[in-house]
Amino acid sequence: MTVDAMVARGITPESVGRAMDDGTLGAWVAEHQGTVVAFAMAESTEGRLFALFTHPSHAGQGHGSSLLKIAEDFLTQRGRSEIVLDTGAGTTAEQFYLRRGYEVTSRRDGDVFMKKTLSHCVLLTKD
Ligand SMILES: CC(C)(COP(=O)(O)OP(=O)(O)OC[C@H]1O[C@@H](n2cnc3c(N)ncnc32)[C@H](O)[C@@H]1OP(=O)(O)O)[C@@H](O)C(=O)NCCC(=O)NCCS
Repeated sequence: MTVDAMVARGITPESVGRAMDDGTLGAWVAEHQGTVVAFAMAESTEGRLFALFTHPSHAGQGHGSSLLKIAEDFLTQRGRSEIVLDTGAGTTAEQFYLRRGYEVTSRRDGDVFMKKTLSHCVLLTKD
């Protein structure tokens, strides 16, 4: 997506900063030797994985899996029972999500829309 397309959807540095401040948007990076090699963002109002990208030269080293788990935990902790995302159809990313329990809900204009039910754990107490 281009910067202009993001602005058209209301995604600006200011709106992202506000959402991070109020806790609805989580953002994480993975570092290798002090350099950012992957990042993820998740938004709790919709329960959406907003972004997950690994630099191609660091692919296949587990960064994507680790960040996805962190994003899923973030949404679970905020009471979401489902996570949704969209990505390019037929890409490495589509296979990556299918292998991690995501199912396809629809396809449109070269994109695939996916969802996964998040499992909830409840702390049991004596009372
Ligand atoms: C999808 C993506 C985030 C995965 O990131 P990653 O850091 O490579 O993820 P992992 O290392 O945890 O897992 C990659 C899988 O590919 C395998 N793999 C091995 N070598 C690989 C390589 N050189 N390149 C890519 N994947 C490789 C891994 O073993 C793993 O297999 P598995 O699914 O059977 O476990 C990354 O491919 C990406 O950035 N894709 C393009 C961006 C995109 O479309 N993002 C989605 C938008 S929401």
